[in-house]
Amino acid sequence: MGKTKLTFIADTHHYSKSLGVSGSAYERRSATDQKCLAETGAIIDSALETIAQSDTDALMIVGDISDDGERASHEEMLEKLYRFKEKKPVYVTLATHDWCCDRNARRYCGDEVFHDVETVDHTELRQMYYDFGPCDAKAEFITHLGTSSYKIEFPNDVVLLSLIDDQDGEGASGFTADHLEWILNQIREEREKGRLVIGMEHHLLYQHISPLLSGHGLCCGKHEEYIEKFCEAGMKLVFVGHSHMQRIDRYTSKNGNVLYEVNVGSLVGYPAPMVNVSITDEKIEIKTEHLKQFNYDGRVCTQGYLKKHATNIITRTLSLAKRGQKEEYLKTMAELGVKQNTAEKLRPVLNITGGFITKTGVTSFGEFINLCSFNKTFEKSDLKKLKDKKIIDIVNESFLSLLDGSLTKRPEGGAYYNVVTSFSKIPKRLVKALKIKSEKAVFLSDEFEKLMWEILSGGEIDNNYLTIDRN
Ligand SMILES: [Fe+2]
Ligand SMILES: [Fe+2]
Repeated sequence: MGKTKLTFIADTHHYSKSLGVSGSAYERRSATDQKCLAETGAIIDSALETIAQSDTDALMIVGDISDDGERASHEEMLEKLYRFKEKKPVYVTLATHDWCCDRNARRYCGDEVFHDVETVDHTELRQMYYDFGPCDAKAEFITHLGTSSYKIEFPNDVVLLSLIDDQDGEGASGFTADHLEWILNQIREEREKGRLVIGMEHHLLYQHISPLLSGHGLCCGKHEEYIEKFCEAGMKLVFVGHSHMQRIDRYTSKNGNVLYEVNVGSLVGYPAPMVNVSITDEKIEIKTEHLKQFNYDGRVCTQGYLKKHATNIITRTLSLAKRGQKEEYLKTMAELGVKQNTAEKLRPVLNITGGFITKTGVTSFGEFINLCSFNKTFEKSDLKKLKDKKIIDIVNESFLSLLDGSLTKRPEGGAYYNVVTSFSKIPKRLVKALKIKSEKAVFLSDEFEKLMWEILSGGEIDNNYLTIDRN
């Protein structure tokens, strides 16, 4: 029985230290980003070393290889990939952050941000990364941007389609009509030969978790059309990146075919996932591994370092909303993409809610809500069991669960599950009690409840470990 083992990583966003890794402007950028910046080189080196020493047959990178298309970042990344290729093959799918489609590449010095960074144009990418895909391709499609989608054959009748989905020619991410036709022909041709077809593209085909989080910005413009067509043509698995959230979802086409979408989280932020796929004649086994440690700035950093970096976005922003730090607060909100007007309006709200959630314990908050709702919201015994938790702990833990695909299970019926579930129903109950007719309010309260269930449970499919039949 043959076995093919492939490893997928995504969103490596390599950031060259030459772009600046100190000073208040850099610190602000770093503190508002879930992923690391200065540490990317160290994280990538450690992950590549781990993968090179493993029994995997090849490494795949699902887009956003550089931080934002900076030439310096690409050049350093290429050096790393050529070193890795001496041990194992590596195939990349490039994406919008590899050619800086938003024209927002930046470098940092002191309190200043500079936009004079040399970036790589999309027309250069195919040649730059030729040795990491196109050179081994059994078929290739060159897009109108000059970028490349290509097909790789692996032993054991496994075929990989690396698909670049940056532009559909109609203003969204996706594929032009001729590109889509090429993809569908490739899938059908390979299926007729009885081969397993695995796709790899950067943007999502399946809108996962909740429309509150994975709206159309994360998906290809015509994602519903693509996933139906890919599934019908016979693609079994597709690996995507972009959302920086680990997730596995199952799609069933109108005719009953099934396609699994594996959204690989970012390697350079919590939880630094590396998704291993072992394929035999009968089974496909997905096992997500997490980078244990990396060496940065003379110290050994573990998962705790990545967790702290991610949750710092919440805790720092809330603490800045307090009076006396207005200038830094506004600069931070600007870095998060919030306009000054909105940031100023939000400040008093964040100041009050921020102070409240960082200081208040779950038990006393629950008791207060129970007092207002005739003890109809929370079970007293559940609240008691969470007496050591503050509200901010649950906020941070929920954020980490979103990123890691709910690695920490919150069993149904347990105190944590019960309290968070009861809390998630409050907006819906308020909408009902106050007879609010607004469709938006009804939608948001419904979706909030569903989102919290997804975070607690991880959804219907385990997001990190899955075994399915090959046929
Ligand atoms: Fe990304
Ligand atoms: Fe992306």
